[in-house]
Amino acid sequence: MFSLSSNDDFISRRCVWVNGPVIVGAGPSGLAVGSCLREQGVPFVVLEKADCIASLWQKRTYDRLKLHLPKQFCQLPNMPFPDHFPEYPSKKQFIDYLESYAKHFDITPQFNECVQSAKYDEACRLWRVKTVLTGGSARAEVEYICQWLVVATGENAERVVPEIEGLKEFSGEVLHACDYKSGEKFTGKRVLVVGCGNSGMEVSLDLCNHNAKPSMVVRSSVHVLPREIFGKSTFEFAVMMMKWLPVWIVDKILLILTWFIMGNIEKYGLKRPSIGPLELKNTQGKTPVLDVGALQKIRSRDIKVVPGIKRFSKGTVELVNGKNLEIDTVVLATGYCSNVPYWLQETEFFSKNGFPNAPFPNGWKGKAGLYAVGFTRRGLSGAASDAARIAQDIGKVYKEDLNQKKQKVPSHRRCISQL
Ligand SMILES: Cc1cc2nc3c(=O)[nH]c(=O)nc-3n(C[C@H](O)[C@H](O)[C@H](O)COP(=O)(O)OP(=O)(O)OC[C@H]3O[C@@H](n4cnc5c(N)ncnc54)[C@H](O)[C@@H]3O)c2cc1C
Ligand SMILES: NC(=O)c1ccc[n+]([C@@H]2O[C@H](COP(=O)([O-])OP(=O)(O)OC[C@H]3O[C@@H](n4cnc5c(N)ncnc54)[C@H](OP(=O)(O)O)[C@@H]3O)[C@@H](O)[C@H]2O)c1
Repeated sequence: MFSLSSNDDFISRRCVWVNGPVIVGAGPSGLAVGSCLREQGVPFVVLEKADCIASLWQKRTYDRLKLHLPKQFCQLPNMPFPDHFPEYPSKKQFIDYLESYAKHFDITPQFNECVQSAKYDEACRLWRVKTVLTGGSARAEVEYICQWLVVATGENAERVVPEIEGLKEFSGEVLHACDYKSGEKFTGKRVLVVGCGNSGMEVSLDLCNHNAKPSMVVRSSVHVLPREIFGKSTFEFAVMMMKWLPVWIVDKILLILTWFIMGNIEKYGLKRPSIGPLELKNTQGKTPVLDVGALQKIRSRDIKVVPGIKRFSKGTVELVNGKNLEIDTVVLATGYCSNVPYWLQETEFFSKNGFPNAPFPNGWKGKAGLYAVGFTRRGLSGAASDAARIAQDIGKVYKEDLNQKKQKVPSHRRCISQL
């Protein structure tokens, strides 16, 4: 890596040549690619807008969070979880694991560098990645130039805040689930939790456990599954069945077993989608809820299930069934979205929603050295398999280039000297 600098009164700019890929994002996906590239002997640079690795886990998740899947399905390549970790590691244990992972593979991201744009330069046949330093007082910009670009900014990069009539006039506190830490400060409060995904369910449960009064908005339908079936993780059970059976049969079996374990949940206002849970995940990316206790609180009416919202006013919410609820606080557990369209100037590989166009398992490799990791809607295990593929692919070309470079000066180096 070498760099050129220039300064004017307000902005300092640097241009950095990276002899290897630039990885955007130091979450689990970016770290997984880093470790696999180390294995291949390929140097790389990781750019991270936050001041730490795994910022989603460190800064934007609630305290009671645990992995919902058993640890063997969440480990990153080349390093299993420690034996003494429980089957479902806590958020803190997962962060500790990621910290040791980064240390073990000597992955040292450039923190506080937010990628503003990335564009393929056809003339030079190289990627130009522009960042802004977010840490210091003076504005500093850096341009990285590289042959490969790995997008690892995550499926959950930005919060989704829906536009709901009157929300701006609501007089109480409104926060997104990514800013919710614990129910401690809501004791005795009437809290409206908007959304019934894994976040909405777990935030509602946490509020209950802190003696708050949550009402959870379920505007459409949701698959709630037990976290375990016959003492085995539901996910593991489904993965096992899918080796032999088509998805629709696995869905049917899961729903029958769920009915035996949970009974009819529709009577509590939790309508099931007409498509099965795995098929829904595969086709629409909607994750089923793995229940970790919220359902019991819904049955006991400690969590009230309410229908969609019509409008907010000062201290109340009007629901689509015409009922009004007095509330003190609103937690928007309304999900997340990718931020790729905001910075990647490319429209072939990535679609408008910030996910690769090609369905799994083909969404990891684009053209001209572009890669995506962690966009398969298959959580951490999906990211781990993307990472291994990407590193192998880059490693092959890198080694070929290295051999050629021994014989001649490559064309892109000549191009850089003209920039
Ligand atoms: C509450 C919650 C719980 C979850 N629990 C699980 C679970 O138990 N199991 C599971 O498999 N999945 C879970 N997920 C899904 C989660 O997305 C993955 O676990 C994992 O964090 C994905 O890793 P990632 O590296 O792809 O994305 P992220 O963890 O989101 O990391 C992306 C990184 O990129 C950085 N970044 C973004 N934009 C830029 C930019 N422009 N420039 C520079 N850096 C940038 C971000 O700061 C971030 O550090 C959960 C998600 C949430 C919200
Ligand atoms: N421990 C864990 O493993 C864990 C914990 C939390 C989250 N996660 C993961 O993190 C990701 C994000 O989960 P999430 O729960 O934050 O988001 P999500 O799964 O996208 O759920 C968003 C919820 O908000 C609802 N919603 C959106 N706009 C609404 C509106 N205007 N009015 C009413 N409801 C509205 C959606 O309803 P509709 O369905 O009707 O659109 C949905 O129920 C998922 O992959 C999830 O599995 C994992």
